[in-house]
Amino acid sequence: MASEGNGKKACVVGGSGFVASWIVKLLLEKGYEVNTTVRDPGNQKKISHLLALQNSGKLNIFRADLTDENSFDAAVAGCDYVFHVATPVNFASEDPENEMIKPAIQGVTNVLKACVKAKTVKRVILTSSAAAVTINQLNGTGLVMDESNWADVEFLSTVKPPTWGYPVSKALAEKAAWKFAAENNIDLITVIPTLMAGHSLTPDVPSSVGLAMSLISGNEFLINGLKGMQMLSGSISITHVEDVSRAHIFLAEKESASGRYICCAVNTSVPELAKFLKNRYPDYKVPTDFGDFPPEPKLIISSEKLIKEGFSFKYGIEEIYDQSVELFKAKGMLQN
Ligand SMILES: NC(=O)c1ccc[n+]([C@@H]2O[C@H](COP(=O)([O-])OP(=O)(O)OC[C@H]3O[C@@H](n4cnc5c(N)ncnc54)[C@H](OP(=O)(O)O)[C@@H]3O)[C@@H](O)[C@H]2O)c1
Repeated sequence: MASEGNGKKACVVGGSGFVASWIVKLLLEKGYEVNTTVRDPGNQKKISHLLALQNSGKLNIFRADLTDENSFDAAVAGCDYVFHVATPVNFASEDPENEMIKPAIQGVTNVLKACVKAKTVKRVILTSSAAAVTINQLNGTGLVMDESNWADVEFLSTVKPPTWGYPVSKALAEKAAWKFAAENNIDLITVIPTLMAGHSLTPDVPSSVGLAMSLISGNEFLINGLKGMQMLSGSISITHVEDVSRAHIFLAEKESASGRYICCAVNTSVPELAKFLKNRYPDYKVPTDFGDFPPEPKLIISSEKLIKEGFSFKYGIEEIYDQSVELFKAKGMLQN
């Protein structure tokens, strides 16, 4: 059922993705006209969830690529808000510099250039990542990370721990966005989410839900990925995708908002998470013996600034996992 229009128009860059498709859905429910970009509008299977969303409001689908300088102009033209969500993600990349870092920075510049040209854009909301904030070489526990922190890019680029290209791409793309925004008088907000899970609109199960669910699915490769995440980032910090998407729209509309905003619902560790999952889902074989692996997170990521701005989280760890388990069952990836 199409909603009543509110007279406002927004562009969501990368609408096919996990988070972006949620933002599209929530904007349509609020009466926005939405332009969204995908790389291949001809791939009907990949964008089937967007085609379905066209029944709930005015949703226009455009072709654009982060590396194609003028490809965002048509989608951004006439918009009040632009949500730049897309990013190249390939954790297994053998050439992160060319496959993630350069295109992420290029993408930010190309989208922001389109916003300058449009002359109608009141605010740009860029999706960054906790990976751009928390990675450091500090020791100990009980550290608190907030919007003043940046990932240690020099350490990542010289030591090159597994998956290093992704946090570097997110930190450098966000920094490039702040520089371009300052030089071109753009009102920019960055949202800094943690690992996201929960219900997905996409035809395939998003890789982040797969990672979050690894202790239940028993996928050893991804369990090691989750452990690697705690070792590199300092915690397993999880947020419901709908809350992150709501935060994007909340910050676009909130006049007083400015700067970076961490959006994190739960801070935990692999052993603590496993204990919780074992109790909540006794039917699954959740491992609980992690030997001398750090039982507690090294740090917590604080959403205090977002909460002080007036945002409240709808979902805690129980709902995040109940919905992720349901998604896995619906996609035939878990029995019973
Ligand atoms: N999911 C998480 O746990 C998590 C946590 C923290 C931050 N984030 C951030 O949240 C944002 C969305 O993540 P997600 O999990 O929703 O990712 P996703 O589902 O993998 O979606 C990524 C999107 O980026 C698009 N994309 C990739 N390369 C592109 C290019 N060269 N040109 C245009 N579009 C391109 C993809 O488009 P195609 O459909 O054309 O491939 C896809 O729509 C990203 O900025 C990510 O860094 C995610």
